[in-house]
Amino acid sequence: MKIACLPGDGIGPEIMAEARRVLEALDLPGLTLFEGDVGGSAYKKHGHPLPPETLDMTKAADAVLFGAVGDPDCDNLERHLRPEQAILGLRSELGLFANLRPATMFPGLEGLSGLRPEIAGQIDLLIVRELNGDVYFGEKGSRVLEDGRRQGYDIMSYAEDEVRRIAHAGFRAAQGRAKEGRKGKLCSVDKANVLETSQLWRDVVIETHAEYPDVELTHMYVDNAAMQLVRAPGQFDVIVTGNLFGDILSDQASMCVGSIGLLASASLGERQTDYGTFGLYEPIHGSAPDIAGTGKANPMAMILSLAMLLRHSLGLEDQAVRIEAAVSKALEDGVRGGDLGGSARTTEVGDAVLARL
Ligand code: IPM
Ligand code: MG
Repeated sequence: MKIACLPGDGIGPEIMAEARRVLEALDLPGLTLFEGDVGGSAYKKHGHPLPPETLDMTKAADAVLFGAVGDPDCDNLERHLRPEQAILGLRSELGLFANLRPATMFPGLEGLSGLRPEIAGQIDLLIVRELNGDVYFGEKGSRVLEDGRRQGYDIMSYAEDEVRRIAHAGFRAAQGRAKEGRKGKLCSVDKANVLETSQLWRDVVIETHAEYPDVELTHMYVDNAAMQLVRAPGQFDVIVTGNLFGDILSDQASMCVGSIGLLASASLGERQTDYGTFGLYEPIHGSAPDIAGTGKANPMAMILSLAMLLRHSLGLEDQAVRIEAAVSKALEDGVRGGDLGGSARTTEVGDAVLARL
């Protein structure tokens, strides 16, 4: 079992170190870890945020554990050299089109949500975000119009096969009743009242539904979905949506459960390994340059991303459950990083999780 670890920028290396301690504590036989450079730190070392050797390392692995990228020093670089291009490049080069972003309320943290505790307590949802298309990967550019005004543009588009495969991922996730505790409900989020891209999206999702009669399908415009997420988030089970809408809604969902420092994600494609589905696992938060190096970052989202890796890519469901239970117990026992209003340092949170493991 080969895992490529890419710590990246900012707090990435600090939280990765805690996830690696947890992984090492499991003492899994036949596990090899590799470490590669990615993001702004890779640019500074190799002149590119996603050096070929890093990409090759990920392709040879069964799974990728990814910290975070983003570095203010790199904000003025040409777009293709910016740290963010590393994660976008990995997602597209590795064919990782399905991004699973669960948001569940941990018991005892209801008071940290921006929502009233009784509303926040209902949250148990999964966002299935498309990751290889949309306005992220369409033609983009900037130009000067004939009248001298500057213009920037990014083309939004989806081909039907791209929508179909993420629709399947959404329906299958909604079916995951027994193991993942889902409720068989899928809400497809689009902007079909305005966008052609969304009209096609909706048509294809409806067509695909024919294969999943046991899943209840609803549709919602994205503006309404943003509103419903704070009004009554308990109504959602699985949300399937495009790349841009999913980016925005998943950040919103994270704060509804108290902190972005707790949310993990899996990015999956079609490739199967000897143990499961090849994937990349990362916290949904960024590199937090403002607290990098201070030891204040909460490593829980990174540790929970490791749990998702063990579940989906290595077929080690029992180990995934152990880690999730250890994190949950640490929270229950009052272990709180700065993002949760506490003062536990990165390594102390790691210690607390290890102790309960
Ligand atoms: C995310 C991030 C990325 C995205 C950035 C870093 C390119 O916000 O994973 O949600 O927009 O997808
Ligand atoms: Mg985002």
